[in-house]
Amino acid sequence: MKKIGSLNLIGNTPLIKLQNIKVPNNVEIWIKYEAGNPTGSYKDRMALSVLSEAMKNGKVKLGDQVIEYTGGSTGSSLAFVSTSLGLNFTAVFSDAFSSSKKQTMEAFGAKVIVEKSYGKGITPELLSRMKTKAYELSQKPNTFYADQFGSINVLKGYIPMGKEIKNKLGNIDVFCASVGTGGAIMGTWNGLNSHNSKLVAFEPLQSPYLTSGKGGPHLVEGIGVGFEPPFLNRELISDIKCIDQVDAFKMCRRLAKEEGLFCGGSTGMNVFGALEVAKDLKYGSKVVTLACDNGLKYLNSNIYQTN
Ligand SMILES: Cc1ncc(COP(=O)(O)O)c(C=O)c1O
Repeated sequence: MKKIGSLNLIGNTPLIKLQNIKVPNNVEIWIKYEAGNPTGSYKDRMALSVLSEAMKNGKVKLGDQVIEYTGGSTGSSLAFVSTSLGLNFTAVFSDAFSSSKKQTMEAFGAKVIVEKSYGKGITPELLSRMKTKAYELSQKPNTFYADQFGSINVLKGYIPMGKEIKNKLGNIDVFCASVGTGGAIMGTWNGLNSHNSKLVAFEPLQSPYLTSGKGGPHLVEGIGVGFEPPFLNRELISDIKCIDQVDAFKMCRRLAKEEGLFCGGSTGMNVFGALEVAKDLKYGSKVVTLACDNGLKYLNSNIYQTN
């Protein structure tokens, strides 16, 4: 298996405590800064797990074509890991997502097919169209469907993240995160193996599928998929909170200015949500959430276009 050194840069990211944003009840909010991964996103962890396991098991071999439909973060990670392992990658993408993510995938040598959103944003209809296209492509010979919504290796890829948090902080009170496939929140939770903590999930108020059964158009890339996230184990979740995307994006701008943390919309949602969670906690409790990815990917989206 071809393996290049930059794959070793995946994981072992910093844990950073909020310093300047005032947190209710003096709760400590810790942020796992996943922008520290090579493509600036925690998706590098799942891409490495999925593709290296598939190569080990002979499901994909050098020179094969990896296929996935993606909003671009998973795609950037799959593009990066594919080229590092000697594979090719084709992404089914859409103009509803940041164009810089398309450029990133292409920089790593990926082929990017763009499904039109017709200005309607990220809708369940668009995602379903992208999925059909990806499935069609994956029927060709010498292709491998990465299956970010089904592969057990997605979950496995995030277990080290939970372990890294546990090694640094010991027991925590709450782990919370927003949900796309549910891979990051559940895999990290498995790695945390912390039975006395609570697990809280967030979703966009504009696409409240988890709490109401109905998704809708929204602007927070990577989450709020409008169907049951395959990896989400509702039995382990204590609470699901709906967060307005406007508050999430405002939080992104505050994080940059007040904490020096430059992140995307799902991270804004995670931190805004963590502050909501803190309102109901005892003085000095510990909450951990994720900085899913880097703000540089969103310079041409509406997160950083306003003040
Ligand atoms: C930027 C971003 N945040 C959050 C998520 C959600 O992660 P998960 O699919 O593991 O639930 C994604 C998934 O694509 C993402 O791209």
